[in-house]
Amino acid sequence: MSESKGYGLLKGKKGIIFGALDERSIAWRIALACKKEGADFVLSNAPIALRLGTLDALGEETNAPIIPCDVSDEEDVEKLMKQVKEELGGVDFILHAIGMSPNIRKKKEYKDLNYNWYNQTLDISAISLHKVLHFAEKQEILNDGGSVVALSYIGAQRIFSKYSDMNDAKALLESIARNYGSRLAERGIRVNTVSQAPTKTSAGSGIKGFDSMYTFAEKIAPLGNPSADECADYCVTLFSDLTKKVTMQNLYHDGGFVTSGISEEMIDGLVKLYADEE
Ligand SMILES: NC(=O)c1ccc[n+]([C@@H]2O[C@H](COP(=O)([O-])OP(=O)(O)OC[C@H]3O[C@@H](n4cnc5c(N)ncnc54)[C@H](O)[C@@H]3O)[C@@H](O)[C@H]2O)c1
Repeated sequence: MSESKGYGLLKGKKGIIFGALDERSIAWRIALACKKEGADFVLSNAPIALRLGTLDALGEETNAPIIPCDVSDEEDVEKLMKQVKEELGGVDFILHAIGMSPNIRKKKEYKDLNYNWYNQTLDISAISLHKVLHFAEKQEILNDGGSVVALSYIGAQRIFSKYSDMNDAKALLESIARNYGSRLAERGIRVNTVSQAPTKTSAGSGIKGFDSMYTFAEKIAPLGNPSADECADYCVTLFSDLTKKVTMQNLYHDGGFVTSGISEEMIDGLVKLYADEE
């Protein structure tokens, strides 16, 4: 993000931002960018994350109320939407930046998943988008012409073994975004996923082998890996009125990784490696 004052792209818009835990969180960077562009919003995270994280500081900096909500609990989500209605009336944008796999955390390999944890992975990381939209509509707080963005990862399309059951969760998340997007389109509401490159955050670094995934992507993407702040800038455009007809898309924000085969640098390195072995 440049040091400019912003462009007023979100002036007068209100939103809900899920998933800011600490200042490395992509949602944290998005909240700062949205504020800079003139938006008002509420921040939400799981009660345990509010205890362990530093969200209060972001709430103060952006003048945003904080509403606790464990998205795996339907009642919590409904309660949150009621509170949002009291705080803001309606909302023009929602950011879903929530992901968690107990199997990855507890080092359960994909062929040996704990099924309760597998359900939790899918529930917290994907089905929660459905719940959020369902209860937002039920409380009638989603304004016409609004925009919803959920953060995804290319594991939805291509298997990265260390990403394990999160590959499945992201595939489901992207499908829910399309499915809901088709139903909300009659009110001009867009629903998209942004497929972000590996980014050094708390969730990212919790994945075994994350550093090699980060370096692999960095070496292949012609523009290199985008930072969390660059992801924030992109999300601002999607929340703004400049992208009114973009919906039901999975939008890659990855420096060109998804359409690149391999970089010259990596080919040269591999050729040398194999030549040394002969
Ligand atoms: N870091 C990366 O490399 C990367 C790449 C692509 C996509 N993403 C996605 O971006 C999003 C944000 O992740 P991040 O990397 O900023 O890490 P992060 O750890 O900062 O954010 C994940 C958030 O999910 C929240 N969460 C977990 N369980 C929850 C629950 N039950 N209820 C409510 N919230 C809950 C956590 O408290 C945390 O704030 C995730 O969807 C992640 O999968 C991350």
